[in-house]
Amino acid sequence: MKDKFKATALAHPNLAFIKYWGKKDEQLNLPLNGSISVNLSNLLTTTTVEFSKLLPEDQIKINGQENKKENLKVVKHLDLIRKIAGVKWRARVVSENNFPKASGLASSASGFAALTLAATAALKLKLSERKLTILARLGSGSACRSIPAGFVEWKKGEESETSYAYSIFPAHHWQLSIMALILKSEEKKISSSDGHRLAQTSPFFKTRLKNIDHRLFLLKSYLKKRDFLNFGKMVEEEALEMHAIMLTSRPSLIYWEPKTIEVIKFIQKIRTDGLPIFLTIDAGAYPFLICEKKNEVAVLKWIKKIEGIKKIIINYPSEGAKLIDNHLF
Ligand code: PMV
Repeated sequence: MKDKFKATALAHPNLAFIKYWGKKDEQLNLPLNGSISVNLSNLLTTTTVEFSKLLPEDQIKINGQENKKENLKVVKHLDLIRKIAGVKWRARVVSENNFPKASGLASSASGFAALTLAATAALKLKLSERKLTILARLGSGSACRSIPAGFVEWKKGEESETSYAYSIFPAHHWQLSIMALILKSEEKKISSSDGHRLAQTSPFFKTRLKNIDHRLFLLKSYLKKRDFLNFGKMVEEEALEMHAIMLTSRPSLIYWEPKTIEVIKFIQKIRTDGLPIFLTIDAGAYPFLICEKKNEVAVLKWIKKIEGIKKIIINYPSEGAKLIDNHLF
C-alpha cells in the first residue's frame, strides 16, 4: 500500500451574468436564488494536493504564503473530503493563481473548485460532476460554477443535494470577449460573506427575488439565441440591481470607487454612439466589459482612452476544472 496519494487540478474563476447575492443557509452556502456564469479563460488556479501517512498536520501554501484565516477554510474543506473518503491522513496543499491576489479578482471560486477536484482525485473518490459541484459549493458558494465547462447555471435547490451547478452551453457556444479592467485605485475588499449577510436588509431585496426566476429564464433564452443586445442589457441591469441592493443594505455597502462610476458612464456613452458593449461588476470596484469577439479590437481602442486603468485582462468562455499531470511539487 502506498503511503502518499497526490493529484493536481486547475480551475478558472467564473463571472456571473445573474448574480448570487444572499444566502438561505450560511453553513451550507445555499443561495436565495439561482445564478448563471461563464468560466474565464485567462485566469487560472492550479492546486496540488498530496495526502500522506507521514504528515503530522495539514500544510497549506497559497501563492507562496501561509495565511491563517484562509488555511482554516482549506482544512475544514479537507476534513469534509477526508470524511467522505474515510481517511485520516493529513495533506500538503500548494495552490498558485496566475493573477495577483490583490488585483481584486475572485480567487475563492477557482481555488475551491481546484481544491475539491484535486483532493477527491488524490483520494480516488469517483464522484459525478454534480457531486463535485455540491462539494465545491460547501467550500465557497460560487466555486460550484467553476467545475462544469463554459456557460453554467447554479440551481438554487431546496437543500444541499439539490443545489448544484451544470453546464448549459459549452465554451465554444458563443465567442464573447470578457475584459477585466484592473483599476489603479487600491481595492478595499469587504468579504462577500459579510455582503451576503447584509443582502436581506435591503428593502428592495424581496422584489429582486420575486423577479429573478423570470430573469434566469430570459437570460438562458438570450444565451441560446446568442442575442447579444438583449443579453448584454440584462447582464448590465442585473449587476446594477445587485449593487443597488448593496447600496440600500443597512448598513450600506459600497464597493465602487469613483473610477468605477466613470467607467460605467463611459461604457454607456460609447454604447449610445453605436458600439455594442456592456458591463458587469462583482463584489468589488473593478468592471468586467463584455462584447462579442468580432468587436474586441474596436472596443479596446476605446477602452485605452480611459485613464487610470492598470491592466486589461481579456478572457474568453473556457473549459471547467480538470486534472493535470504537472504537479506543483
Ligand atoms: O461565492 P462568494 O461567496 O464569493 O459570492 C460571490 C458573489 C458575487 O461574486 C458578487 C456574485 C456571483 O454570483 O459570483
